[in-house]
Amino acid sequence: MNKHEQYRLNQLGEYPFARLNKLLDGLAPNPNLDFIDAGAGEPRLPLPSFVQPTLDAHVLGFSKYPTTSGNDFLRESIAAWLKRRFSLKSIDANTQVLSANGTREALFAAAHALINPNADEKPWVMMPNPMYQIYLGAAITAGGKPYLQPCTAETDFAPDIDGISDDIWADTALVYVCSPSNPTGWVADETYYTKLLRLAEKFDFYVLADECYSEIYYADKPVGLLEVAQNMGNSDYKRCLVMNSLSKRSALPGLRSGLIAGDADLIQNFSKLRSYTGPGTPLPLQHVAVAAWNDEEHVQQHLKVYRDSLDVFFNVYGGEVPAGSFFVWLAVDDEETFVRQAYQEQAIKLLPGSYLGTKDMHGINAGSGYVRAALVDGVTKSRELALRLKKLQAV
Ligand SMILES: Cc1ncc(COP(=O)(O)O)c(C=O)c1O
Repeated sequence: MNKHEQYRLNQLGEYPFARLNKLLDGLAPNPNLDFIDAGAGEPRLPLPSFVQPTLDAHVLGFSKYPTTSGNDFLRESIAAWLKRRFSLKSIDANTQVLSANGTREALFAAAHALINPNADEKPWVMMPNPMYQIYLGAAITAGGKPYLQPCTAETDFAPDIDGISDDIWADTALVYVCSPSNPTGWVADETYYTKLLRLAEKFDFYVLADECYSEIYYADKPVGLLEVAQNMGNSDYKRCLVMNSLSKRSALPGLRSGLIAGDADLIQNFSKLRSYTGPGTPLPLQHVAVAAWNDEEHVQQHLKVYRDSLDVFFNVYGGEVPAGSFFVWLAVDDEETFVRQAYQEQAIKLLPGSYLGTKDMHGINAGSGYVRAALVDGVTKSRELALRLKKLQAV
């Protein structure tokens, strides 16, 4: 390896959407059809009614620095939401909660705050494959070694934890879990989280649950990592961190507001890192965030749209509705060819599944042979999307 190759950033591939732009470069979507952008997981629902008045009422806050960890009033409302949503008996807003500017930056920073590559011990950072690519970028740039857990039809899309040897677990520093999962829609149940937390205790590693789709599900409300820890008697949430945000729950991806919660020691490390990187959330936006965490009505309205969208999609297309998230993960022959065809013939933008995965030690990319479609444009367009995809599949 030369010096250039050793530079950690050079070990990262191009981000999926940059690859998608290249794949579609020079092609035009069918001009006779309305364009459907199912490529990005960006909720496109109306702005919740409390946003504008809250912003207006607190606009002067832009003239003040926010605290890096989130002001008390925000951390308290986050703690109250976590208690209500996950039936937590206690969570301390001062020591067990931080504000984040969305989960993305927090998921990335987590590996930098929690692993210790210089000691050259516990190098593994475990993650699902395919995955939200930030986990991979975080592990590599923090000096960890990604350990990929294939999530395939054979595992019912669960990241495998049974087939991993004790030696690997012993050298594991951190496990990323994504539940509900982007892109597969798999949801961790209590048994899965319990098993993982027992392993974490035995082999002393951290579990980081990305729960940003926790409020988007088809049938049962997903369980959260912290409530499972509590049910196991781990009421300090030792070795556990969760991240969540208002991006999907409240359809406010532009607000850039989220949470980090769990083990007070890990929160302290995180807090220290953030005192240097300093991504404080502007005060007026913190007030909007409080209004959003305090309101469930808009979340229920959103949930209805996502459920109805999944219903119409699968009624037309066939197949099994995913347990959570607003993504559909469809098996196809060759995902890049399919995505180009969908764009040119049916004016649909999709994402090739392999762009969300990476090759494992056996040279297998568990995202190959799939495409991801995001049902973020409401019921009518979800039906139309299913009809057009069915036409393509039938060819
Ligand atoms: C699995 C997953 N985690 C985290 C994020 C980041 O979302 P945000 O930073 O808006 O909270 C996304 C966004 O698409 C995602 O799909």
